[in-house]
Amino acid sequence: MFVLIRYMEKRDIIIAIDGHSSTGKSSFAKEIASRYGLIYVDTGALYRGVTLFAIRSGLINNIGVTDPEMLYSQLHNVKLRFGQALHGSKGELYLNGESIETQIRSLEVAGKVSIVAALKPVRDFVDSILKEYGVTGGVVMDGRDIGTVVFPDADLKIFMTADPKVRAMRRYREMVARGEDANFEEVLKNVIERDFMDENRENAPLRRAQDAIFLDNSNMTEDDQMVWIEKIISEKWKNLKKN
Ligand code: DC
Repeated sequence: MFVLIRYMEKRDIIIAIDGHSSTGKSSFAKEIASRYGLIYVDTGALYRGVTLFAIRSGLINNIGVTDPEMLYSQLHNVKLRFGQALHGSKGELYLNGESIETQIRSLEVAGKVSIVAALKPVRDFVDSILKEYGVTGGVVMDGRDIGTVVFPDADLKIFMTADPKVRAMRRYREMVARGEDANFEEVLKNVIERDFMDENRENAPLRRAQDAIFLDNSNMTEDDQMVWIEKIISEKWKNLKKN
């Protein structure tokens, strides 16, 4: 009986984590999912998947989408699915049966995804995939509009931010660790530009939902954040057990 209650509660839970870029949303969401046996959904990966499709179809250049109508008419050919979305692991993202996990992290996709993510038909397309997870439930999703647009009734909403300089330094260090030629001022400029684009686009701009709990992790370690969220979760769902 106890197991059944646990299962039902987990099945129904939707945790929405929105916030600025480079705040560590995906690592945080993934860790929560892993600790509580929920499914992690990386919503940005889906926008990246559509962007990869647009690049491969020759429908986007450095200035923007060259033929938006053509892209919209092709969306029914974009079959995006996560493999093995179980026990905290989202699995790799597949585009029409091909794993595209590496390709969607490329600089080319990263440089064009915000153009594609601003288009209303693309947002509707991604939202329809995300809403399927809402039916299944038991998910932790990170993105920009999950608690405001996709799941306004999510059970728990977190809005993450951190000082732009702190975020830029984290990204700069990651790039240096990967052996990339990084310039801190350029990374900072990019962080500020992305914030501006996310917050000022017409469709589903980044906003803190009124009922979202604010998390500024400028001076927090990943462990600090987990202590913080576990307290919130244990107060909200008294019998939700960790794995
Ligand atoms: O989180 P990320 O860097 O993988 O997101 C990629 C892009 O998609 C970024 O430009 C923001 C956008 N995005 C969005 O508009 N809405 C979401 N729910 C998730 C991501």
